[in-house]
Amino acid sequence: MVMDTSARPDRPAILPTFAPVPDLDQAAYDRMADSVRSLLGIDLSQYKPAQVWRRVNGFATAKGLPDPDALVAKAKQDAVLKQAFLDMLTINVSEFFRNPEAWDMLVEKYLKPMLRSQPTVRIWSAGCSLGFEPLTLSMLAHEIAPNVPVKILATDLDETILARARQGSYTEAQMAGVSPARRARFFRQVDKNWQATPELQAPITWRRHDLLRDPYQQPFDLICCRNVVIYFTETAKTDLYTRFRDSLRPAGILFLGATESIPNVRSIGLLPAGSTFYQRP
Ligand SMILES: C[S@@+](CC[C@H](N)C(=O)[O-])C[C@H]1O[C@@H](n2cnc3c(N)ncnc32)[C@H](O)[C@@H]1O
Repeated sequence: MVMDTSARPDRPAILPTFAPVPDLDQAAYDRMADSVRSLLGIDLSQYKPAQVWRRVNGFATAKGLPDPDALVAKAKQDAVLKQAFLDMLTINVSEFFRNPEAWDMLVEKYLKPMLRSQPTVRIWSAGCSLGFEPLTLSMLAHEIAPNVPVKILATDLDETILARARQGSYTEAQMAGVSPARRARFFRQVDKNWQATPELQAPITWRRHDLLRDPYQQPFDLICCRNVVIYFTETAKTDLYTRFRDSLRPAGILFLGATESIPNVRSIGLLPAGSTFYQRP
């Protein structure tokens, strides 16, 4: 067993809303979507409006603002609120070894065979947030096959999150999923935080990338896109999974979040390969 059993169970990345949410007002939604595009660079046309409306209203209420119009107006003047608004829309909740049983399966069924049979392994962590996922992949690769060259492309829409991910520094609370043995091998304690070693960071290339707008690189042996598409429309998700298929090598694996699945999987040219895994034939 490769996995660390002390990892915490998954938590839903849902912002609590305590006030009743007003019905979707299309004109107000369109105004907000226009502002979000120009202010934050996010195209909400590919997000589910009802969920976005609920989250934005909940966020506005939590910030003491009466509605999304007031939120947008204040975010234009207030850089801290603007960043919090972006963080809320993109939901960057993450952790090391998120859903440990899924990582166990990845290791035993796919990662070990890949690392033991191929000269080089290329992995994409799409929507990598603060870097927990690419660093989890790097730890596993070092443990399974330290001499096999592994390249991990770690991308996210949010430049601020990526800047923090590049620093590789994590608080004690953020390290909850990492065992003492792994901390000792892959991290150094600096003041109260844990700093990822250069060895752990070496396979990772960090890059800003919008999954809804930017071209996809290829080929990859493994693509991890976990807990990123929750609020995307069904059309946007189908388009994204089709593009992931094209970016995978034959027999390459797509690894999704614990609550995610692809209903029309065969029609987009992927095969189910166990709980949240899909394979390019
Ligand atoms: C909940 S985190 C998931 C992190 C990690 N994959 C995990 O499962 O723990 C979602 C991440 O997706 C990113 N994201 C949201 N929309 C995106 C898009 N269109 N393109 C790229 N990244 C996006 C967010 O910025 C956020 O960091």
